[in-house]
Amino acid sequence: MAKLMGQKVLLGITGGIAAYKTPELVRQLISEGAQVQVVLSRQAVQFVAPLALQGVLGAPVFLADDEGPSGMRHIELAKWADRILIAPATANRLAMMAHGRAEDLLGNCLLATKAQIIVCPAMNQQMYQAASTQVNCETLRRRGIHLWGPAWGEQACGDVGPGRMMNPEQIVQRLIGNQRLAGHHVVLTAGPTREPIDPVRFISNRSSGKMGYALAEAFRDAGAKVTLISGPVKLTSPPMLNVIRVETAQQMLEAVLEQVAQADIFVGVAAVADYAPAQLATEKIKKSADTMTLNLKRNPDILASVASHPHRPLCIGFAAETHNGLAFARDKLTRKKLDMIALNEVHQPDIGFDSDKNALTLITETQTKILTAKSKQAIAEEMVDFIIEKVISKQRAVEPAL
Ligand code: PMT
Repeated sequence: MAKLMGQKVLLGITGGIAAYKTPELVRQLISEGAQVQVVLSRQAVQFVAPLALQGVLGAPVFLADDEGPSGMRHIELAKWADRILIAPATANRLAMMAHGRAEDLLGNCLLATKAQIIVCPAMNQQMYQAASTQVNCETLRRRGIHLWGPAWGEQACGDVGPGRMMNPEQIVQRLIGNQRLAGHHVVLTAGPTREPIDPVRFISNRSSGKMGYALAEAFRDAGAKVTLISGPVKLTSPPMLNVIRVETAQQMLEAVLEQVAQADIFVGVAAVADYAPAQLATEKIKKSADTMTLNLKRNPDILASVASHPHRPLCIGFAAETHNGLAFARDKLTRKKLDMIALNEVHQPDIGFDSDKNALTLITETQTKILTAKSKQAIAEEMVDFIIEKVISKQRAVEPAL
């Protein structure tokens, strides 16, 4: 079956030797059902003939200065595309993109689009490892642009190292992988909640939101529509996510319940405060006695509310534990009627709360998988793979209409 059916891919080709592989890339995209349009940079035409591309495409390709009869070609293409794939992307193109330069049709399209942008760098290994190229790559990643590759190997100049463009088959397979959750709506909570005591004080915890944000991005990158309900964190909203900011557990519950009937998957990553002050002082509490008692009341359990909702999505929880982790996580899995729980043993060094790394044990009724310590982004990708392969596919086998 054509696995990219209906997908509109704008292929941007820039001036590197790997451009000779692009007619084959176009052929494979089309044979997977994608609709493809092609834009070449001024230098790209030195490496691949526009006529060769037109032959495979069966339609005209666009050159660097082509703005069409209306002068609006860049807007038309930018709005048309679901994804803009730049392959190969030279060091110069990465620098132009990092600085938002619009010197040709492709540069203009990139500024005018809301589409997902994927870049396949290809250049000499030393150019790729140059500090300025690495900074540019980092800038692009921070903006939510995907960098695929480069692959490591022998280069046209005779050097060996990172700089080869991923081959067309790998690129197409990865695009297909990116569609695994197309049509699914994923709702996540992330970060801490803040429970006010008085106008200047609150109860909260050390959650930074990094795990929840990384997971939201991994779901987005698997093709899902993502709504992220975030407690107060210092992170900026990732591109192409619907981010709803809340402060208290009660506000988080209300925001979640508004989404839940349209959700296919719910993931509770947030460290929701279990208790909130029973009364909110309207004025700053003044110090008086040596000790002070704060009366607390139980907060609603958001995850349990979603799991018992009449339009219940697939429900995934986290369990942050400092001891007896497996037993407590399994108890939460059963008690809250979840499909999966991710045990986060937060007493381990360098992982969990406010760290850039994490390690998790994924637990379902029948399976356990350990994800060893790595970046929260890498953990999030592994977790999404597990959810798709082991949890969703199993549920689909029982109940086809997830
Ligand atoms: O944000 P980071 O700094 O990146 O850190 C990540 C993390 C450690 C916060 C994250 O990986 C994690 O473990 N999140 C769950 C934290 C937690 O509060 O666990 P818990 O065991 O107390 O709660 C169990 C589950 O119930 C969680 O899915 C939680 O979101 C949910 N819950 C808890 C209480 C409540 N009132 N409502 C809930 O929905």
